[in-house]
Amino acid sequence: MSTQDSAFLRACRREPVPLTPVWFMRQAGRALPEYRAVREGIPMLDSCFQPDLVTEITLQPVRRFGVDAAILFSDIVVPLRAVGVDLDIVAGVGPVIAEPIRTMQDLDRLPALEQVPEVAEAVRLLVAELGSTPLIGFAGAPFTLASYLVEGGPSKDQRRTKALMYGDPALWNALMERLADIALAFLRVQLDAGASAIQLFDSWVGALPAEDYRTFVQPHSARILAGVAESHPDAPKIHFGVGTGELLHDMGAAGADVVGVDFRVPLDEAVRRIGPGKAVQGNLDPTLLFAPTEAVRAMTERILAQAKAAEGHVFNLGHGVLPETDPDALTRVVAHVHEATQAGTSSSASN
Ligand code: CP3
Repeated sequence: MSTQDSAFLRACRREPVPLTPVWFMRQAGRALPEYRAVREGIPMLDSCFQPDLVTEITLQPVRRFGVDAAILFSDIVVPLRAVGVDLDIVAGVGPVIAEPIRTMQDLDRLPALEQVPEVAEAVRLLVAELGSTPLIGFAGAPFTLASYLVEGGPSKDQRRTKALMYGDPALWNALMERLADIALAFLRVQLDAGASAIQLFDSWVGALPAEDYRTFVQPHSARILAGVAESHPDAPKIHFGVGTGELLHDMGAAGADVVGVDFRVPLDEAVRRIGPGKAVQGNLDPTLLFAPTEAVRAMTERILAQAKAAEGHVFNLGHGVLPETDPDALTRVVAHVHEATQAGTSSSASN
């Protein structure tokens, strides 16, 4: 079987599938003992620039869980580090920026991204290893990148980001344009090297009302997705955020082929909000993996039933795997989704 015939790419293209494909956001990472072993003593961001290590960490969940896609081990701040932004990822906290970006002059510290040879090399190594399993490349969307750069680190309410957005639209647009250019260049590095699909993470954009999303964010995310469509027309584009129930339609309309749905909106309702012509991805609550197996199975069944309303469904969590998750719980979910949706046993496999 070729990569293009894989269940994951077929589901993204809304074609019939032999079974519902599964992958998990943050499938590589601290939930895996083999990850903790290879990362021992190597700072997170340094590890993202070591092609052999990136390859090994990306492959770990594919081997262990039998997921239908790999996602490049990297981070949304990797392209920012690549253009020279002074930042670090602090364990248990997240990205921390040494000098936050808050003025027009600060934008000088965000030059264009040209190449990221270490990432391109990791993608080439991975594509050679993965056979017919597709590799998903990714980037952070401009709003989420801006939130880290403006706040200086993670924020519960995005207060400085929103103050800048509403208070100085000219600076905001200039910042978003820079970040959109960087995100698009980073996606093209991965696609040129052989990634089959991309996911644009706008993790924190759920902080905005739809009207302001359309004014201040959507044009910039749309430019990234259109840029990918132009240079790599065959690569499906997934767009995801957390708490984005009110934004699902507009995020789809930004140019996504697949809309990622968090666990707060049932998939059939998400399909109604998004409208026709899109596949959906999601949406098992990652905290549910701490519940007994029967509860996870029941919720998985509910999601698969709701997903019958979709033209294409990629099973995933509603957000990333939490570090304390029992990896065996994830293995069981993959097996359950595959069993329940094998051709002939589910209408989602035959429509
Ligand atoms: O999904 C995957 O398996 C691929 C790897 C991946 C990572 N980060 C690795 C990582 C992906 C896709 C990301 C994206 C990312 N990074 C997002 C968007 C997705 C989301 O979760 O909403 C965001 C917001 C970030 C920023 C970030 N990086 C955070 C909030 C953290 C967690 C900090 C902590 O320690 O709790 C990181 C660090 C990070 N990125 C880790 C991993 C595996 C953990 C660092 C470690 O192992 O020490």
